[in-house]
Amino acid sequence: MTAVAPKPEPTETQSAREIERLLQPINEFLQCRTPGAWLEQAKKPENLPVLLRDHMVCELKAAQSAMLLIRRYAVDEESGNALLAWLKPYEDYTYRLVGNWRELGKHNKLNKRMVPKSERPYSQELIDKMVLLIKEELHHFYQVLEIAQELGIEYDKLTSSRYARGLLTHVRTYEPAALIDKLICGAYIEARSCERFAAIAPHVDERLGQFYISLLRSEARHYQDYLTLAEQIAGDDISDRIAFFGEIERDLIESPDPDFKFHSGLPA
Ligand SMILES: [Fe+2]
Ligand SMILES: [Fe+2]
Repeated sequence: MTAVAPKPEPTETQSAREIERLLQPINEFLQCRTPGAWLEQAKKPENLPVLLRDHMVCELKAAQSAMLLIRRYAVDEESGNALLAWLKPYEDYTYRLVGNWRELGKHNKLNKRMVPKSERPYSQELIDKMVLLIKEELHHFYQVLEIAQELGIEYDKLTSSRYARGLLTHVRTYEPAALIDKLICGAYIEARSCERFAAIAPHVDERLGQFYISLLRSEARHYQDYLTLAEQIAGDDISDRIAFFGEIERDLIESPDPDFKFHSGLPA
């Protein structure tokens, strides 16, 4: 009988290769890399609180926009209410500073089966992908809170950056074009987050850096989920629309932006 050798830990080269593999399609999708000047700001210890607080809010916003998509496009009213109730404690804590953050870990579950609106062919697909995404984003939200606490950074409210608004303002106003555009914006936000996590990871506290790398895996899938849904719903080539939002996204990243945040532009 041969002894079973314990599974070896991944070596540094293996992890570097995995990160490279995850980042390659993301960097091909995005039209530019994070400017060095933004990274210089992100490395400064005095900017860590704003980076972490904003990151935390971004995780909640990612959950909220996925929830809005399901409620608006895919489910009946009762299911929509269950979704609202699911996110409420997180929103209370973030926007109204109500509740104890440690309790939030207990709310990472949706207690009701989602009932699709029958007339839309893509409802089930949208529900399945977005419910899983919400679950993961809420978990990330909690993880950011945990790390911030460890690092002695208390949560405080902050203004939102121009980034998501800057993309969503170009969403067309008729369906299904509006839905397709929102999904493409979702893909860009997720992809940029991945690119930034990888860029900052080597320059922050080691545990925080490892956390950023762990986020790469789930956010890389999220960006692809958004794109696949957009393509399925369009049932047609959407590369022009993807390129259109890609240019807007690049401009938001490369143009001067005095408000330093997780997704901000060139530090002014
Ligand atoms: Fe996330
Ligand atoms: Fe995500």
